[in-house]
Amino acid sequence: MSRDTLAIAAALRGYLPGGEAIRAVVPLTTGFSNETYLVEGRDWILRMPPAGGAILEGHDVVAQAQLYVALGEIAGGPPVPGIVAICEDERVLGAPFFVMECVAGAEVHDTQLPDWFTSPGDQFRRQLCEIWLTQVASFAALAPLAVLGEPVSPEQDARTWREFARKANCPALVAAYDRLLARPAPLSGPPAVVHGDVKLSNFMWDDGRLSAVLDWEMALNGDPLSDLGYFLIFFEGPFHRAATPQREPGMVSRDEAIALWERASGRSSEGVSWHEIAQMGKTIAIIAEGAAMFVSGRSTDPKLALFQKNLDYYLGVMHAMLDAQGL
Ligand SMILES: Nc1ncnc2c1ncn2[C@@H]1O[C@H](COP(=O)(O)OP(=O)(O)O)[C@@H](O)[C@H]1O
Ligand SMILES: [Mg+2]
Repeated sequence: MSRDTLAIAAALRGYLPGGEAIRAVVPLTTGFSNETYLVEGRDWILRMPPAGGAILEGHDVVAQAQLYVALGEIAGGPPVPGIVAICEDERVLGAPFFVMECVAGAEVHDTQLPDWFTSPGDQFRRQLCEIWLTQVASFAALAPLAVLGEPVSPEQDARTWREFARKANCPALVAAYDRLLARPAPLSGPPAVVHGDVKLSNFMWDDGRLSAVLDWEMALNGDPLSDLGYFLIFFEGPFHRAATPQREPGMVSRDEAIALWERASGRSSEGVSWHEIAQMGKTIAIIAEGAAMFVSGRSTDPKLALFQKNLDYYLGVMHAMLDAQGL
């Protein structure tokens, strides 16, 4: 099911101050996660819930916009897009939505690497890695935000994803979480803002500078080791291969990433393996739900057909990591 972009453009022209200049509304990303549209004529971005059901429930767009506002107010905080409008009234576009400024630059796609990322010398990618990692480490200094609710312990978070895995019909993952939860989670210090999805493709770059940190849908107040653990999933380690962008020459190694994070956050990475396993589980849970959506016919998105293949690979990785921890 896709939305009528002509009708959306007409409604926004009347609703938004300065909306008369809107020429068209063009889909950028649609599917099983929140939908993103470019609002031409104003250089804005519109976000709406998926028209055909989401993988992650409860990650509503209005909360996302409120988080962008809160993050934008932090002096020296992460760069995030400015919010133009938040609308909870479903009569306007048929669903809640928000409009934000379009930030300059582009992301590094998960698998199709852009030329601006692969063409320059190794030093360019090394620097980009350092900026990326320093930004992730800086979240550890952000005091918990009221918009994110009460701090969530790593065990609580793991239990949430364990439940998600159960509902996604993935008993192997439920069992893996039980093994992990047999040991208390190591903590690095007081709770802070956790982004929750710090993969490279959620960072926007403009001429080698970081222009925005996007996609805070899984953010919470928690232990910063969660973000480091999630980050490490994408680097080559004893149990898993590197993700595509991290295979490029110049990208830092896993050990360098850990050392950089410690230096920039002022926290110890001790016990990060627990968190890497927990975050691996979170990734697997989302993959499992995507696969279940496809298998049950709730979605026909061809991307979801690939999920099943990845599911088995990552479950194997998670088991090997648990074994190595003696869990
Ligand atoms: N404010 C913005 N300015 C420019 N592009 C954006 C903006 N917000 C989102 N995008 C584009 O939409 C893509 C998806 O947004 P993101 O917040 O990562 O959500 P998700 O990955 O859950 O769909 C981004 O990778 C980026 O290309
Ligand atoms: Mg994203």
